[in-house]
Amino acid sequence: MGPDTETPLVEIRECRLEDFDGVFPLLRQLWPESNIDPEKMRDIYLRLLEAATSHVFCALSGGRITGFCDFYVRDSLWQQGKLAYVDELVVDESMRGRGTGAALLEYAAGTARDLGCSRIELDSAFHRTDAHGFYDNQGWQRRAFLFGKDLT
Ligand SMILES: CC(C)(COP(=O)(O)OP(=O)(O)OC[C@H]1O[C@@H](n2cnc3c(N)ncnc32)[C@H](O)[C@@H]1OP(=O)(O)O)[C@@H](O)C(=O)NCCC(=O)NCCS
Repeated sequence: MGPDTETPLVEIRECRLEDFDGVFPLLRQLWPESNIDPEKMRDIYLRLLEAATSHVFCALSGGRITGFCDFYVRDSLWQQGKLAYVDELVVDESMRGRGTGAALLEYAAGTARDLGCSRIELDSAFHRTDAHGFYDNQGWQRRAFLFGKDLT
C-alpha cells in the first residue's frame, strides 16, 4: 500500500493569536445585526486565549478558518463537579451542512470530558431555529429557558 495521502476534510485545532483575522468574519456572521468593534473583539479574544478556564478552537478546511467555537469550564454545585459551557459556535456560511459544526461540538464535548467535566451546556437565542434543529440532531436536550437583563 502507498503512503496515506488522504487529508481529513476538517481539521480542528486550538486557536492562536494570529487566527483572529480569520475568526473575526465568522463572529460577524454570528451577530450580523450587531455593530461589533474589531479592536474590542481582539482584546477579548486574546484574553480568552490566555484564560486557564477558556478553550478556544477553530475548524480549518484547505488551510482556511471555516469554523469557530469556544467554551469555558466552571465549578458547579448543581453538577457537584465541573461543568463546560459553550459560548460561541459558528461555521462559515459557505461551509454549513458539511459536518463542520458537528466536528466542533464533538471536539468541545471530548475536550470537556477529558478535563473532568460531567456535563456540557449552551444557550441559543429563540430566533436561531436552524441551530436548535442542529442541536436536536446532535442529541442535545432542551432543558431550560435563559433569562437575562441589560445592565447598561
Ligand atoms: C448551527 C451551525 C453551527 C451548524 O453547523 P453545520 O456545519 O452547518 O452543521 P453540520 O453540517 O455539522 O450538521 C451536522 C448534522 O446536523 C444536521 N442539521 C444541521 N442543521 C439542522 C437543522 N436545522 N435541523 C435538523 N438537522 C440539522 C445536519 O443535517 C447533519 O446531520 P447528518 O450528520 O445526519 O448529516 C451552523 O449552521 C451555523 O454556524 N449557524 C449560524 C450560527 C449559529 O446559529 N450558531 C449557533 C449559535 S447558538
